Amino acid sequence: MSDKKIKPVTVQTILQKKQNGKKITMLTAYDYPTALVLDSAGVDIVFVGDSVGTAELGYPNTIPVTIDMMLHHLKAVKRGVSRAMLLVDMPFLSYQVDPVDALRNAGRLIQEGGADAVKMEGGAEIVPIIEKFQSVGIPVVAHIGLQPQKEKVTGIKVQGRGEEAAKRMLDDAIALQNAGAFAIVLELTPRSVAAKITQSLEIPTIGIGSGPECDGQVLVITDMLGLIPNAPAFRHARRYANLAPVIEDAARQFCADVESGVFPAAENSFD
Ligand code: KIV
Repeated sequence: MSDKKIKPVTVQTILQKKQNGKKITMLTAYDYPTALVLDSAGVDIVFVGDSVGTAELGYPNTIPVTIDMMLHHLKAVKRGVSRAMLLVDMPFLSYQVDPVDALRNAGRLIQEGGADAVKMEGGAEIVPIIEKFQSVGIPVVAHIGLQPQKEKVTGIKVQGRGEEAAKRMLDDAIALQNAGAFAIVLELTPRSVAAKITQSLEIPTIGIGSGPECDGQVLVITDMLGLIPNAPAFRHARRYANLAPVIEDAARQFCADVESGVFPAAENSFD
């Protein structure tokens, strides 16, 4: 056994990556086996997103996701992560009601769930919450551009198009950095706007559908693995595997083997 100590990914590691011009990698995970694999693959940030609602639980959007659901998945992922940073989303209405409520909920994710940091959607309006978290030592990743928790108002589309909207997004990014966020997710943001925000900040940007100039990239694991049968292929995502048909083939083979008596064989049985 190697006695080489595994160096965990910390807030400092993430900030240094930007300073050294190194890209940051982040993928979502909602369960223990996926967490083990992503940690072993060297992903910088394993992220329990509220996309658990759509990607894992079959809801049409992220609105039904609660703190208790996040905690359930976070604890499973925590058991599989030993090196990567463990980031978790604050779900709809777990931080927008009041800062004390927000702190209590974030505290549960850190204390009970073992997260290293929390992510929240929102611009300048979440500055007081970030400041509060900073004051007690909870690291925050902010999330602007498309904010899926607001999809009933904005729809699901690219945000920050046009001079005024782009300027608002840059102002939000600067306010979030000044409040203490250590990174910002930019979702479905025009490439030029994301590039300008990335250049203007000292903290890293992590893009999803926001172009290659971002300091890092994040994808939803079920999109990149093709795990949901017949799911639309999103322009912003790349499918690195197409596992739904592989799993279906395996399940069909199992049914055929049981039905024909080929499984279990002698080696799968006990005397
Ligand atoms: O919940 C999620 O998966 C996210 C990503 C889209 C960044 O917020």
